[in-house]
Amino acid sequence: MKGIVFVKFGEFIEELWGDEFWDELLEEADLPSGGIYTAVATYDDEELFTLIGLVVEKKNISSKDAQFAFGQWVFKELYSLAPGGAHDFKDVFEFLHAVQNFIHVEVKKLNPDALLPEFEFLSETANELTFNYQSPRKLCFFCEGIIRGLAEHTGQEVVVSQPECEHEGDQRCVIKVEKV
Ligand code: HEM
Repeated sequence: MKGIVFVKFGEFIEELWGDEFWDELLEEADLPSGGIYTAVATYDDEELFTLIGLVVEKKNISSKDAQFAFGQWVFKELYSLAPGGAHDFKDVFEFLHAVQNFIHVEVKKLNPDALLPEFEFLSETANELTFNYQSPRKLCFFCEGIIRGLAEHTGQEVVVSQPECEHEGDQRCVIKVEKV
């Protein structure tokens, strides 16, 4: 995963629980990178999972909640790095299409080693959109959180759920976004 994700994860943890807690996590995690993250480098996905695992253990929250909260927080950070043109979308559904068709495509062009999820759109009405989240990293809860952050940004009320989820024994992850 790109260093930017790790840099932002560190900022998120520091904001919530302070610098000392982040230092404590890095010390205990004893990571191959040593936890000295730079935005443009790439690090093993496992390092993120190790850090999340330690947060879960020390703060007594579920991995799902930790990933969701990080996603919700990180949206504004991703948005500020988004390629020109990404700031024109004012609606959650439009934005989600734009992520698949344009934003992540541009991110990949600029960072060929970026590992991005694929969204296969399944159904859409005025109030409800479903898509299949596909990624070997299985970060569907992180994805749900990012969508919540996106909705805060557009000022829309949405409910995000997963009628199907690989973590619940299903064959795939289907994310449903309802405007309420
Ligand atoms: C605001 C504009 C956005 C930008 C600039 C952006 C950029 C990125 C970048 C740089 C990564 C890390 C790639 C890597 O580590 O190799 C990433 C990962 C990811 N993005 Fe986006 N993103 C944006 C919006 C979104 C939105 C709205 C969603 C949710 C629907 C989303 C879902 C994800 C997920 C779930 C990952 C984790 C990787 C995975 O699941 O395999 N992104 N994105």
